[in-house]
Amino acid sequence: MKLILLGAPGAGKGTVAKMLTAIDGSVQISTGDILRGEVQAGSDLGRQAEDYMNRGDLVPDSLIMGIMEKRLQQPDCAKGFLLDGFPRTIPQAEALKELLNKLGITLDMVVNIDVPREVLLDRLTTRRTCTNSECQAIYNVKSMPPKQEGICDKCGSPIVQRDDETVEAITHRLETYNQKTAPLVGFYEKEGQLQTITGTSSDAVVNAIKSELGM
Ligand code: AP5
Repeated sequence: MKLILLGAPGAGKGTVAKMLTAIDGSVQISTGDILRGEVQAGSDLGRQAEDYMNRGDLVPDSLIMGIMEKRLQQPDCAKGFLLDGFPRTIPQAEALKELLNKLGITLDMVVNIDVPREVLLDRLTTRRTCTNSECQAIYNVKSMPPKQEGICDKCGSPIVQRDDETVEAITHRLETYNQKTAPLVGFYEKEGQLQTITGTSSDAVVNAIKSELGM
């Protein structure tokens, strides 16, 4: 499958992407995970991105497009991919459209996961993430706790709250989403590619996507 997952911070894009990649071996491409990996590695890119991320601002489009042009041409993308957190602005969506045309890739669908704001706030303040950049498993202290507190079930590394999960940064990320990313819903509606799925159950979202794709 070749999908874009749209949705506000905390809508469950990462959770749904992991469930879908387990079904058919498509790759999850999360620009947030790539950027956090660069910050952890202390690379030039990570240093440029870190302040934007910690404030809850978007990283400049030029940096993101540089990452994605390379990533989408890697051989594992031939198995299919789920774009999680990209595109995030109209210029990114336009650049992606051009890039996919150039590479001869057709998307199956753009999925907009629509979740009420109070649920988003609650989920983001209770999320915990594995610190191992190879794993990055997601937990939630309320709905999906690890078996042993503070330790990843999958790889045994510590799990922590992300640096951009202060109440101020979360509030700012939600505002940034409304201003810069929500307009993509209209963009993909016009392209005739959008499916909006409203609901708070990740199983229901995954089943709706499978049914739309005839899986
Ligand atoms: P990014 O990492 O993409 O963060 P985000 O979009 O804010 O999305 P999240 O990861 O917070 O949410 P999610 O929808 O994946 O939710 P999850 O499944 O984890 O970006 C971080 C930063 O990087 C940005 O602020 C920006 O600075 C930069 N950046 C990234 N991409 C960029 C781009 N393209 N352009 C510019 N800058 C960019 O779920 C959340 C929680 O809810 C978890 O705890 C989970 O367990 C729980 N949960 C999920 N589903 C359910 C459910 N059904 N029931 C109960 N709990 C659930």
